[in-house]
Amino acid sequence: MQLASPSTRTLSQRLYQSLREWIQQGQLGVGSALPSSRQLARELGLGRNTVLAAVDRLTAEGFVETRPGAGVFVAEWQSERGAGAIPVSSAGAVSHELSARGQRILDFSRVLSDRHTAFAPGVPALDQFPRERWQRLLRRHYQRAPIEWHDYQHQGGVAALREVLCDYLRLSRSVRCRPEQILITQGAQQGFELIARLLADAGDAVWVEEPGYGGAQSCFVAAGLNAIPLAVDEDGANVNRVADETPAPRLIYVTPSHQYPSGVTMSLPRRMALLEAASRHGAWIIEDDYDSEFRYASAPIASLQGLVDDAPVIYVGTFSKVLYPGLRLGYLVLPEALVEPFTRANARLHREGQYVAQAALAAFIGEGHFVRHVSRMRELYRWRQAQLREALAPAVARGLVLSAGQAGMHLVAQLESREIESELVARGRRAGILLSPLSGYFLQQPGRPGLVLGYAGATDAEIATAGRWLCRAWCELSAPDRR
Ligand SMILES: Cc1ncc(COP(=O)(O)O)c(C=O)c1O
Repeated sequence: MQLASPSTRTLSQRLYQSLREWIQQGQLGVGSALPSSRQLARELGLGRNTVLAAVDRLTAEGFVETRPGAGVFVAEWQSERGAGAIPVSSAGAVSHELSARGQRILDFSRVLSDRHTAFAPGVPALDQFPRERWQRLLRRHYQRAPIEWHDYQHQGGVAALREVLCDYLRLSRSVRCRPEQILITQGAQQGFELIARLLADAGDAVWVEEPGYGGAQSCFVAAGLNAIPLAVDEDGANVNRVADETPAPRLIYVTPSHQYPSGVTMSLPRRMALLEAASRHGAWIIEDDYDSEFRYASAPIASLQGLVDDAPVIYVGTFSKVLYPGLRLGYLVLPEALVEPFTRANARLHREGQYVAQAALAAFIGEGHFVRHVSRMRELYRWRQAQLREALAPAVARGLVLSAGQAGMHLVAQLESREIESELVARGRRAGILLSPLSGYFLQQPGRPGLVLGYAGATDAEIATAGRWLCRAWCELSAPDRR
């Protein structure tokens, strides 16, 4: 007899593991007697207590049974199909196939890439976040944390954070709210999920921008909603272009400050038309204001939520872009009547958490670090966008069209065909450059070809190298005769 050396730590755990494997693999058959604990201890060079602990555990779990006066025997396993040895595997009993809903969720989820260099969209400059200051704040607030924060929470978030956030949103985003209307979530994604589940039923229509954000769309699909594309042009999403027979929406998802991914800002007439359509249909507008802080040509655009009295809008914010996505903190600004049900459902479905991080964030905002960080990042991203434009200038001179880039963390390059798009994406993959195809952001295929080029999280050197590479590749494929 020899002990297997599995990953378990103590000798007793190793003996338990070995005996269990021998039983399950049939080396110790049903009904056979285990050697006595003394014999096992002697043969394996173990203490007797070690052996007894392993046998006790096997007994408790039903692998062996003790017959008083006779010894310990391998238990017989009874199933509906009969008696025998405890099977090693139940493979084949359940299909690994995803549900239809699961498959649809995956359709909206690109393969995850762990390479966050040029040109991953939506990734901020992670190395620029003031980590030391943040860690000091976390430490301070951990030390001060009341014991109640170790319990389940259901207040909607740390009050201090909701207060400073409310001031910030009122001042810089013209959002109309009181602190009590803010529900802290673990990111915008959780906010979309709550809205989809609490305000719509399976089969209800949700109008989504086309092209649009797959993250939000996967939440809608997971809630069984029927996502209907809403065309976007240079003035943003256009509710006037919806065909008459289109199912009336229960929800309308938009990114009016900076449309994702096209980058356009929704014009005032479009905003009014959207508010009017939502009121007509009795629908809620979900305003996703994910990166509005990064505007380069003008002050941030005021929110849709604050444009008129009692706008049927749920404002969704996130710290993923302004701070970092791994923080998992975002928020909803809810109409008064929805605060209690959303808070209760969130506590039920997701549980609240991260109160120490929330308190640290309240201080980070309250002490002015947030505004300083945002304005530093705004300058950095403005610079990085200029670097990217410079690297791509030779291609632009030969006809490559780039989005205006007045805001945000990415540019969109238009391409002439899906073939060129997929060839560039494939070549990029081989060169270690992440190119996101614009067509992938469309519900209705074939989508418009293009590339979504995130520049915020890439260093100057990465932008220069990857930009030059893209410039050459595009010129080879798109303008060979004009080189
Ligand atoms: C349009 C849009 N909304 C929201 C988010 C942020 O989501 P979360 O707060 O869940 O990280 C992203 C991030 O990629 C985004 O692109």
